[in-house]
Amino acid sequence: MRITVIGCGYVGLVTGTCLAEVGHQVVCTDNDAERIATLKAGVVPIYEPHLDALLTSNLQAKRLSFAGDAADAVQSGEAIFICVGTPPKENGEADLSAIDNVARLIATEAHSSKLVIEKSTVPAQTGQQLKRVLSVYRRDPSVEFRVASNPEFLREGTAVEDFLHPDRIVLGVEDKDSEKQLREIYRPILEAPRGKTKIHCPVHLGGCPPAKSPELVVTTINSAELIKHASNSFLALKISYANMIADLCEKVGADIKEVVRAMGLDPRIGPQFLNAGLGFGGFCLPKDVQAFVRLAERSGVNFGMLKEAEAVNKRRVDLFIEKVRQALWVIKDKRVGILGLAFKANTDDIRFAPSLGVIERLLAEGAQICAYDQEAMDKTSAIFPQVEFCREPDHVARDADALLILTEWPEFRQLDWKRVYDAMSRPLIVDGRNLLDPATMTELGFEYHGFGRPLEKPQPQLVPSVMVGRSSSAVQQPRLAT
Ligand code: UGA
Repeated sequence: MRITVIGCGYVGLVTGTCLAEVGHQVVCTDNDAERIATLKAGVVPIYEPHLDALLTSNLQAKRLSFAGDAADAVQSGEAIFICVGTPPKENGEADLSAIDNVARLIATEAHSSKLVIEKSTVPAQTGQQLKRVLSVYRRDPSVEFRVASNPEFLREGTAVEDFLHPDRIVLGVEDKDSEKQLREIYRPILEAPRGKTKIHCPVHLGGCPPAKSPELVVTTINSAELIKHASNSFLALKISYANMIADLCEKVGADIKEVVRAMGLDPRIGPQFLNAGLGFGGFCLPKDVQAFVRLAERSGVNFGMLKEAEAVNKRRVDLFIEKVRQALWVIKDKRVGILGLAFKANTDDIRFAPSLGVIERLLAEGAQICAYDQEAMDKTSAIFPQVEFCREPDHVARDADALLILTEWPEFRQLDWKRVYDAMSRPLIVDGRNLLDPATMTELGFEYHGFGRPLEKPQPQLVPSVMVGRSSSAVQQPRLAT
């Protein structure tokens, strides 16, 4: 099918590239001319595993192209996916002006009938507005527009896998023709969820293809829109719930890892999204929770529980800084090493990342910061030029008074922690993602603080027979948490 994708951000690029990969003829466009020029040259402006390779091969196969002229792009597609941003306004509502602009563009430039599909995350009832704008601004009265909602459930870092091996595909439609056309678009994925591509997801990210075919859920447009906001908000609730349990664990001497592991074994609860720590960031969960709360308010529903989840999340950085302060006593003039800047592992995205709040607070209190992240240092240095950045993760430890873990990059577990220990002025770790095992770090001689982890683990067999001062060569490689 001839498909147009409007918006070349994370969602649009992954959608366009993956639809080309499964055999469609895709044209992507964006109002950022520089971005289009970069993409035409085969350069992906974001870090997303597998995307470069897939984009290059589909450009070469001429199934995928990028158009600077949005009108041309609109005219070429039978189906048009709207993948533009819906950032938060100051009051938390979703800013739908980009959707409105695109709708007017399609209405005025289309010379043939189109299926217009909302892929961007939008509040319920946006589809109705979209239909109205398309009909009001329609220039050619013979052109018909059908509207559908097809929310994305792509996680940054595993977005390509999520697109090609989804657990569900939601089609919000109003008529049989739209449903038929969308089923046709997704047929390669529905019929061959595995084997169509050679991409294998990284197991440690938990993003493996499901054993069964994806579930196709056909709903109304309003339901499809709500499904997306309700899903992201539920994930946010789950994280904030785990964070509150972690706070309670600290008070009663329980271990959050033990608690959520046992909770997650109940299939009604499930093990994912119960990792306590600095809380949720990124461009989706924080803004979608806010937008959902505002939508509820406008609809006369007080979604207090979601407001609390948001408030709990906002307090995580304060709590973290408090842990640092309690350990260091005075933050001013302390050298602080930071591991991890991205809002989560496997991305270079720092939008609404907890690291930004942590760095801002530490700088305001006069700390000197040295930071490392596999992918996100360039973006962070543009915001905080006064921060020093290191080429290697263990370099942040040099003469540091504290080492802070802010992103759950699994590679940080594999560091030579004995070397880190030797390099630090004061062997203090404040682990904002509960990435390391407290017992192991304590055995190595570190002062370790996480979220909801007991400080001591009285297990005599874990205490090494020789455990002397900081420079001891008898210190063994740690057994790190998984
Ligand atoms: C989220 C959803 O997970 C996707 O399903 C959705 O499609 C996407 O938003 C979107 O709306 O486009 P993403 O923003 O990539 O995906 O990030 P998540 O994997 O959801 O993580 C969000 C934040 O929660 C991260 O900062 C992560 O560190 C944090 N988190 C996650 C925790 O603090 N604890 C956990 O147990 C899990």
